[in-house]
Amino acid sequence: MHIELDSPLDMHLHLRDGEMLATVAPLTSHSFSGAIIMPNLVPPVTTREEVLAYKERIRTAIGEDRFEPYMTLFFKPTYTREFLESVADEITAIKLYPAGITTNSEGGVSGFDIEELRETLGAMSDLGIPLCIHGETGGFVMDREAQFVPIYEKLATAFPDLKIIMEHITTKESVDALGRFENLYATITLHHLIITLDDVAGGMLRPHLFCKPIAKRPEDREALLRVALKAHPKVMFGSDSAPHPKESKECPGCAAGVFTAPIALQVLAELFEKHGAPVENLQKFVSGNAVNIYSVTPPAKKVVLVKKECTVPERYGSVVPMYAGEKIAYSIDKVE
Ligand code: NCD
Ligand code: ZN
Repeated sequence: MHIELDSPLDMHLHLRDGEMLATVAPLTSHSFSGAIIMPNLVPPVTTREEVLAYKERIRTAIGEDRFEPYMTLFFKPTYTREFLESVADEITAIKLYPAGITTNSEGGVSGFDIEELRETLGAMSDLGIPLCIHGETGGFVMDREAQFVPIYEKLATAFPDLKIIMEHITTKESVDALGRFENLYATITLHHLIITLDDVAGGMLRPHLFCKPIAKRPEDREALLRVALKAHPKVMFGSDSAPHPKESKECPGCAAGVFTAPIALQVLAELFEKHGAPVENLQKFVSGNAVNIYSVTPPAKKVVLVKKECTVPERYGSVVPMYAGEKIAYSIDKVE
């Protein structure tokens, strides 16, 4: 049994910087053709120079792999039309974080006053720059994403030509919102298709499954699976693979983020098979839909997966992956 995937894309990826970048970037660039690179470095990526320099560091980290880093800026409501025009050719999207909602998001947006956002979002809309949003309010942790849906709706209505991507959706409310607005799209992670809050905190606490947004209820996971397995044209795979060193996860004050980059395609193949979803749908979920939504042309790459059990390493450098030490059903056979 083998599965061939053309030009897989990861439309939400954290590569970090320095030593961590050197460790994790090749794990994605080996099996993916491209990825949307998150800008939440310390300090965040906010200038043209920083985008170009970070892209160069990523290129150094991936070596010879055929891989396109689709760069993003960290959204600031102070970005002018002139600035956006000067940077538009170097970026694929801009990522908006509500202030303080997740790792390294302190400089994000507080309040969503349309008039305060009009110049920046209006210019992005005119220039065709998609807006990726981490959609959570500061409310009760299980309700934060559902509470953000009215903000998505307000933005989608005020800027009908702006492509808005609801990042790493975890709830049925977000899935429902997809159908109500033409300009709303979504990424879905691997881990949110598999785990619920029970896996994180229902028994012994499992820090390596702790992430933002927190995994939700079984019915939310069902709603995500429904759209992912049928490759709903408005959803794309975005791993949100978010590496943190082991000591930042296994401690009081555990950092949020699940590290899935090295096992993402293999486990997606297993998941689609388990649910009886055709390989064509997996192909659309991990590539075709993103190509259509973002109008990108990823480098040609064929990834061949085989049904051959393998044990996931305990660590990649200082990072513990999802399924560390456990067996998964598929392996990467070759990449052409
Ligand atoms: C991400 C990180 O570590 O950068 N963490 C996470 O839990 N997903 C940030 C984010 O995407 O929220
Ligand atoms: Zn993320």
